[in-house]
Order: sequence, then C-alpha cells, then structure tokens
Amino acid sequence: MPTLPNDMSLRKPSTPVRGGAVPAVGIDAVDVRFRTKKRDVTALAEVSLDVRMGEFVALVGPSGCGKSTLLKLVAGLLTPSTGEVRLQGERVSGPRHDIGYVFQRAALLEWRSARRNILLQAEMRRMPSAQAAARADELIAMTGLEGFEDAYPHELSGGMQQRVALCRALLHEPPVLLMDEPFGALDALTREQMNIELRRIWRETGTTVLLVTHSIAEAVYLADRVVVMSPRPGTIREIIDVGLPAEREYAETMTRPEFASATGHIRGLLGSVGVGG
Ligand SMILES: Nc1ncnc2c1ncn2[C@@H]1O[C@H](COP(=O)(O)OP(=O)(O)OP(=O)(O)O)[C@@H](O)[C@H]1O
Ligand SMILES: [Mg+2]
Repeated sequence: MPTLPNDMSLRKPSTPVRGGAVPAVGIDAVDVRFRTKKRDVTALAEVSLDVRMGEFVALVGPSGCGKSTLLKLVAGLLTPSTGEVRLQGERVSGPRHDIGYVFQRAALLEWRSARRNILLQAEMRRMPSAQAAARADELIAMTGLEGFEDAYPHELSGGMQQRVALCRALLHEPPVLLMDEPFGALDALTREQMNIELRRIWRETGTTVLLVTHSIAEAVYLADRVVVMSPRPGTIREIIDVGLPAEREYAETMTRPEFASATGHIRGLLGSVGVGG
C-alpha cells in the first residue's frame, strides 16, 4: 500500500467555515414509512439531527434500523413521510447533485481506468474538463493512487477501488459527503489504513461527512459525534461526543481513555442487539 505525504494541503479558500450558524445537514422530526403490497414498514420515527458545517458524524445501529434510509433522505433520493430535511438551510425536495456518495461496494465501471472512473463525475456534471482534470490529479495524489491512474478496476486492490470511489465522490468538491459502510468489504488492516486516510482527507478538505458503519471503533476514531440508533423503527437513541483531540494518531488513539469510554458506552447502548462487524 503506498504511503502518503502528510503535508499536502488541499484546503481551498472556498472551504466552508467549520461550525457556521446554518447546519450543513438539518433533519427535522422525520418519519419514513414504506408501504408495499406485502407490508408496511416504519423505517424511521421522529428523527432529528443537525450536522454542523465541516463536522464528521458517524451513524451506528442494528441492521434494518434505517441508516441507509437516512442517507438517502439527505441525498434527496427519498422523501420523508413527515418532517423535513435541509442541506445548508435549503429544503431537500429532489435528488441532490451537490453531495458526494460512497457506497459499500466501489461500483466502478470495469471498462474504464481509475482516472476515467473518477472523471465520470465530471462528465455527468459537465464540469469544465481542465478544472476536472486538475482536481482529479490532486485527489489521485491525496489518496496515494499515483502510478495506478491507468489501471482498470480488476487490476486494483479492494482498498484502491474504494479510494477511486472516494476520489469520484470528492471530484466536484461537495460540501457534504455521504458514506454508506464504505469499508465493510475490506480486510482489517486495509480498513485501518483507509480510516487513517479518510480522517486526514476530511481534515484537509473541510467537507462535512455523514458515515454509516457497523464498526464502533471506526465510528469513534473517525467522528466528532456518533449517533446511536435503535432497532426499527429507527430512532436516535443517543448522540455521543467522542471527546478525542483533533489530532488522532491511530495506535495512540486506541489506547486513550476517551476512546475506551466512548466505545464501551456505545457497545452498552447497542447491547445484545449488536451491530456485527
Ligand atoms: N424501498 C424500500 N421499500 C420498502 N422497504 C424498504 C425500502 N428501503 C428500505 N426499506 C425497509 O426499511 C428498513 C430500513 O432499511 P435500511 O436499508 O435503511 O436499513 P439499514 O439500517 O441501512 O440496514 P443495514 O445495516 O442492514 O444496511 C428495513 O426494514 C427495510 O426493509
Ligand atoms: Mg444499510
């Protein structure tokens, strides 16, 4: 796995100011009910959450509690049955093109090289090609993919494929990045490496992140706050401020009392339900 330089600053003058008055994501008393011929499912009930500009929030909870549903609401791919979702103060009323979305599987096009998979984002948005190419180069360097730009997905490791997916999601500099179990398919060591890189990239870009994960350790290491959800119908059980310093060296963070106390507390909340992984 390539190691990455630590001194690359991609912070742009346009980077949103962290913690501004208008939340990056505002979720207000949201219910989601799915009605199919076979059953009615209440996926989310009375969910309210504000995510500050530049904040990193992780969502954990048992399978089927509505985590993916919550991300889809923010992306405008689903409409709440009641309540309202806002992005930077503006009501979400349809699919949003100004967000980034990373799925559990990298979902790359097999016939396109890494670079051309990243640039797909620019083509879909009709971004000026010179600007897109320059941004792609920055992201390729930032994620340690240099030298693999021309490789096809089957020639890349699982971790590298997820980096390509991350570059693609960040190409248009979205103010909000949604990640749905992005590292679930990776082995433990690669996952650890990706956690370290994601945290560094998040600090460099200033993007607001909403991450769904089944790993309590991943949630606590990465996030400012961890949202713990209850089993379906998904409600917010508790929001934990992890209380770790901004500078988080991986191994050292794992030994900190704040880390042990946050992970222990979350594990207790999830109780026998568990989250797997
Ligand atoms: N389009 C849909 N139509 C009907 N029911 C749905 C739909 N999408 C989700 N559901 C239901 O809503 C509930 C929440 O699903 P969701 O995918 O959000 O859970 P999750 O927390 O992401 O679970 P997992 O951890 O397994 O990914 C589930 O009971 C699911 O069956
Ligand atoms: Mg899900």
